[in-house]
Amino acid sequence: MSDFILEGKGLTQCYKTDTGRVLTACRAVDVTLRKGETLGIVGESGCGKSTLLRILTQLERPAEGRLFFNGQEITFLKGESLRRNRCHIQMVFQDPAASFFPRMKVGEAITEPLRNFRKLSRQELLDKQAELLELVGLPAEYADRYPHSMSGGQRQRLAIARALALDPDILICDEATSALDVSVQRQIIELLADIQRQRGLSIIFVCHDLALVQSIAHRVMIMYLGGVVEALPGDQVWNQACHPYSKALLGSVFATDMDFDKPLNTLEGDVPSPLDLPCGCSFHTRCPSCVEICRHEQPALREIASEHQAACHLLL
Ligand SMILES: Nc1ncnc2c1ncn2[C@@H]1O[C@H](COP(=O)(O)OP(=O)(O)OP(=O)(O)O)[C@@H](O)[C@H]1O
Ligand code: SF4
Ligand SMILES: [Mg+2]
Repeated sequence: MSDFILEGKGLTQCYKTDTGRVLTACRAVDVTLRKGETLGIVGESGCGKSTLLRILTQLERPAEGRLFFNGQEITFLKGESLRRNRCHIQMVFQDPAASFFPRMKVGEAITEPLRNFRKLSRQELLDKQAELLELVGLPAEYADRYPHSMSGGQRQRLAIARALALDPDILICDEATSALDVSVQRQIIELLADIQRQRGLSIIFVCHDLALVQSIAHRVMIMYLGGVVEALPGDQVWNQACHPYSKALLGSVFATDMDFDKPLNTLEGDVPSPLDLPCGCSFHTRCPSCVEICRHEQPALREIASEHQAACHLLL
């Protein structure tokens, strides 16, 4: 039996643009998720987070790489077995308003995935609606409301309820709290943590905000231009994150024992286009610690401490 409920090896995704060029959105990403664990994924816009999630949820098949669920390969599943396997991994998106059909009542909307898979009696459906609403901290009477009459935070609770209707093993949240006020964001995060404790759910939580992610994730993976540059336990991010990009995201200075000449307090410049990936280290065009080797040799992601990997020539 595998230690991991979900495992991706060498996941790569390429897209053809309108002009016929090939864009690499995700580059040889290795990713693992344990039962009951929260994995946070962070990185600037366009670094390939959603692409990776589409592969993990099997909305897209990777151009290269392999995907395993509970140790069983699922990369090439098709038809009914693909549809069945998708029940195990459900997604919550950023915009709760766009996730619901305006003329469908809340109760119907949150049990829609269930109705697509199973035939339920009217009473079973009503019971399930009440159970799901209670799970996300909403009164059962809300089943008769329309989603547009509810607040953004309540709609995001509904989106979580709907994602949990099929009792998945894994919940994937793509910027699921980014559109919410800070206080509502915190409530949703606490709700997810509660549900995780109750159900042993595994969660992948994607967000731009490294500070937020490290506070809720058991492990954090930091991506840049489609690749993983650092991965480490969430509670070590503040003190142990050492890749120049992670440090820049944290807006902190480098540790004094590292051989970096200049401190990097903020990130300057834009992420290069994935159509023209820089040679060598993908971060070298923005990294103030860049040395000659960085311009022509890509650093491998190496274990630099227990449960801690980083890809940087200066972190040997
Ligand atoms: N279907 C597609 N066809 C062509 N290019 C795509 C497609 N999907 C994504 N891309 C490109 O792949 C790169 C990665 O996009 P992706 O949406 O995965 O990034 P992201 O990290 O989720 O960004 P954001 O934080 O803005 O959501 C981007 O350059 C994007 O334009
Ligand atoms: S390999 Fe070089 S360019 Fe890349 S992050 Fe490390 S120091 Fe910076
Ligand atoms: Mg995205």
